[in-house]
Amino acid sequence: METRTVSTAAGLHGEIIVPGDKSISHRSIMLGSLADGTTVVRGFLHGEDNHATLNAFRSMGVDISEAADGVLSIGGRGLHGLQEPGDVIDCGNSGTTIRLMTGLLAGQRFFSVLTGDRYLRRRPMQRVLNPLATMGARIWGRGGGDLAPLAIQGSPLHGTSYDSPIASAQVKSALLLGGLYAEGETTVREPHLSRDHSERMLRYFGADVRPFPGGVTLVPGRSLEGREVVVPGDISSAAFFLVAALITPGSELLIRNVGVNPTRSGIIDILRAMGGSIELVEPRELSGEPVADLLVRSSPLQGIEIGGEVVPRAIDEFPVVSVAAACAEGTTTIRDARELRVKETDRIAAISTELGKLGARIAPREDGMEIEGGAFLRGGRVSSHGDHRIAMSMAVASLVAGGEVTIDDTACTATSFPNFWELLANARK
Ligand code: S3P
Repeated sequence: METRTVSTAAGLHGEIIVPGDKSISHRSIMLGSLADGTTVVRGFLHGEDNHATLNAFRSMGVDISEAADGVLSIGGRGLHGLQEPGDVIDCGNSGTTIRLMTGLLAGQRFFSVLTGDRYLRRRPMQRVLNPLATMGARIWGRGGGDLAPLAIQGSPLHGTSYDSPIASAQVKSALLLGGLYAEGETTVREPHLSRDHSERMLRYFGADVRPFPGGVTLVPGRSLEGREVVVPGDISSAAFFLVAALITPGSELLIRNVGVNPTRSGIIDILRAMGGSIELVEPRELSGEPVADLLVRSSPLQGIEIGGEVVPRAIDEFPVVSVAAACAEGTTTIRDARELRVKETDRIAAISTELGKLGARIAPREDGMEIEGGAFLRGGRVSSHGDHRIAMSMAVASLVAGGEVTIDDTACTATSFPNFWELLANARK
């Protein structure tokens, strides 16, 4: 098991470029494979989760090559050109791979099986399988049909109109991808807008996607056309450096080329509301996605109340928001974030326990946490629970701890941020 020891930092400086966006990278492989013609992907995230998606499509006959500079070239096979995979598809740790692929595979003319690592095999799948069943999908799973491995017998689908009880881009995207193969329109409504990368990229590839307040409709019938996709830096990876620079006195850091899609930039809103100094420099657009450089300077932070529509816009950032809250003055309350319980691990339990070991005062709630700021964090030994974002959040907390922190089980950072430790070491020089 990989272990890392992190010591107190004197400040973070300079410029960094974080790796490509994980969500957009997954979708570039999926849509590139289903398009007619070649798709070129620049800035693809070479992390374990995205490689699971890449290998899945290779196993269905898609030719995907990588140039020396990391640029991918995908030989699209058209909407009906995938081949039956010869073996079980291993989605590794990646919830996005398995959930989006259930929708996409449900409409194929072949049989497939999806599985994943021990963490993924514990995560709920009925949230996608139930609405897909209303479209005519035939999918079986363990645990009464809720758990992977999932067996999918492709079949003719028909459109649906689904009111999702949760704001989940994975649920929405699975239905839209199934909807490409359905007869009739597919409409998904959600309580708050979750990340809209699927809608944007489907449209960019030529699909008929019609967003409306509260939801989106996909009208099938158009083919997808291969495109050039430029993947921006992942704001969920930048988030660790935003918080690290804010809480470590004397820091000034420029994070270049970060995706700032409003359905993902909740972390900027939250940290600014806490008093953090974050400037968006040179906002621009790349392949239908907003991008900017982020200039962050260390700032005194105050506790705030977090809930409602910002929660899905920052859903992957709550582990590191908790670190900011522990360093802030006053109390931070996080509500409406029950989804944290079914991420790579139960993040409410993991954060409360592990940050608690360093002296943070965190009361777990069913749908969030109450974090009393101003605690003096001490050194110690903590665990990632096998969750990349817990590992990196603990590393950020370590920068302001009074002594060295040893973090167990850190190899998982490779799922989303393979060069995290290197960038952290360079920024603290
Ligand atoms: C993702 C959606 C989110 C997020 C995950 C990536 C995506 O999950 O937590 O890391 O790429 O669609 P939910 O849809 O379950 O909220």
